[in-house]
Amino acid sequence: MGLVYFKRYWMELDLRLWRAPPLELPQGYELLPWHPELLEAHAQAKYESFRHDLDSNVFPCLGQREGCRRLMQEIANNRGFLPQATWLAVFSNPRGQTVPCGTIQGIVDAQHRGAIQNLGVVPGHRRRGLGKALLCRALQGFQQHGLTRAALEVTAQNTEAVRLYERLGFRCVETLYKAAPVPAGT
Ligand SMILES: CC(C)(COP(=O)(O)OP(=O)(O)OC[C@H]1O[C@@H](n2cnc3c(N)ncnc32)[C@H](O)[C@@H]1OP(=O)(O)O)[C@@H](O)C(=O)NCCC(=O)NCCS
Repeated sequence: MGLVYFKRYWMELDLRLWRAPPLELPQGYELLPWHPELLEAHAQAKYESFRHDLDSNVFPCLGQREGCRRLMQEIANNRGFLPQATWLAVFSNPRGQTVPCGTIQGIVDAQHRGAIQNLGVVPGHRRRGLGKALLCRALQGFQQHGLTRAALEVTAQNTEAVRLYERLGFRCVETLYKAAPVPAGT
């Protein structure tokens, strides 16, 4: 099996200096705090956010419904899992149905940093400020827990995500290369 190498940035943010910008969600959207009963909705939002995106090549499990469910279970069972840094974005459509449309999860890593896991917004709901709102809520959750640094890893080619992280104050502190199987059909 062939391998392809993806350039990834390790980015960090000093939470002692960080203040959340004013956040206003568009009409119909709401952010829900973590509850174990929302695990399936997080997995669904994760799957729909990543299935057609670059990172499903870097981490093939993100392109599979079952893979996303398993990943959510692993995150929720992680001993560093931080419910305050884990949020679900939902949209209430005009028919009164509530659909998951974005997710973020946070854990405390071995270096006592707040580590963002997977931030994802479902394609039809992007460019409305949900990515920024989810990330800010997670960072506030880290601050409430007393953490002083936040960290995340992002694929360098994922310019939308890199821009979002830089806008909120993250800076690249290290460049890494992640090997992944050559995506099917290439
Ligand atoms: C990266 C990602 C989470 C961003 O989510 P998003 O909800 O689109 O993010 P935001 O809406 O907060 O910001 C995105 C852009 O929309 C713009 N925007 C925000 N509100 C807007 C509005 N009301 N009208 C127009 N543009 C708006 C922002 O200024 C930003 O613009 P820029 O990229 O040109 O600087 C999303 O693209 C995604 O899920 N990608 C796939 C999964 C992924 O790669 N996740 C990151 C893994 S590390």
